[in-house]
Order: sequence, then C-alpha cells, then structure tokens
Amino acid sequence: MKKILVINGPNLNLLGKREPTVYGNHSFESYFNELKEKFTTVTLSYYQSNIEGEIIDKLHEVGFTYDGIVLNAAAYTHTSVAIADAIKAIETPVVEVHISNVYARETFRHKSFLAPNVKGIITGFGLQSYELAIQSFL
Ligand code: DQA
Repeated sequence: MKKILVINGPNLNLLGKREPTVYGNHSFESYFNELKEKFTTVTLSYYQSNIEGEIIDKLHEVGFTYDGIVLNAAAYTHTSVAIADAIKAIETPVVEVHISNVYARETFRHKSFLAPNVKGIITGFGLQSYELAIQSFL
C-alpha cells in the first residue's frame, strides 16, 4: 500500500472556526476521516503543526520512505526558505496545496518559496484540493 502523509501548517488546526468565508466550516479532522474512507487502497496519515521546525522535522522523518506528501504549509509557503530547502533535501515528492485560491488574494500570497521544489500545486478548490493532490499520487 502506498503511504501518503498530509501535513498542515500554522492556523490550520482552526479549520471550521477560522475565517469560515475563506476556509469553510468543516473541521480538518472530520474531512480527513472522509478522505480515509474514500482512499481505502492507500495508507493515509495526518500531521499538523504551527511550528516551522516541527514541519521540517516531519518532512525529514517521512521524506525517504513515504510515497507522497501533501503539504499545506499555510503562511510559511510565503516566507520559509527553510521548508523550501527541506523539500529539496528529501526524496519523497511533495504536492503543495491551498484551500483558497492564493492568486485571487493579497499579493503577498502570490509568492511561494516552495513552488520550485514541489511536484505541483493545487490551489483554490476548498478542502477538495487535498483530495486532488492525493489522487495525483495514485
Ligand atoms: C492557505 C493560504 C495561505 O496564504 C494562508 O496563509 C493559509 C492557508 C490556504 O490553504 O488557502 O493559512 O495555505
């Protein structure tokens, strides 16, 4: 079975409560259960952290053995050279996802430090962005 890890970055633990007009009113935990029911032929796991270094540690931990990583680095997307370098350092392909369409928002969200090092980017499909990213690994 393919092993795929979903990583959510800062503030995404508040999904469902945080700015529902932008990010919806569904908690990630309940959506993740739906994902597991949908993708029964893969081993799906989930990790969330608000801390940049913990996201980097997780990328190092799984990045030589897993088949795919779905990463929503949230605001770190637009700031983190360190996460960009970690993605480059590992072997597992990473797909960058965003719930909102970052290109329809403030210009500071148009820059992704991660973009050059990821396999591809899915942005703007709501929580479905994660499902599309998982599908890309199958
Ligand atoms: C986000 C977009 C980012 O710009 C923002 O900082 C987030 C969430 C998204 O999923 O739409 O926290 O990554």
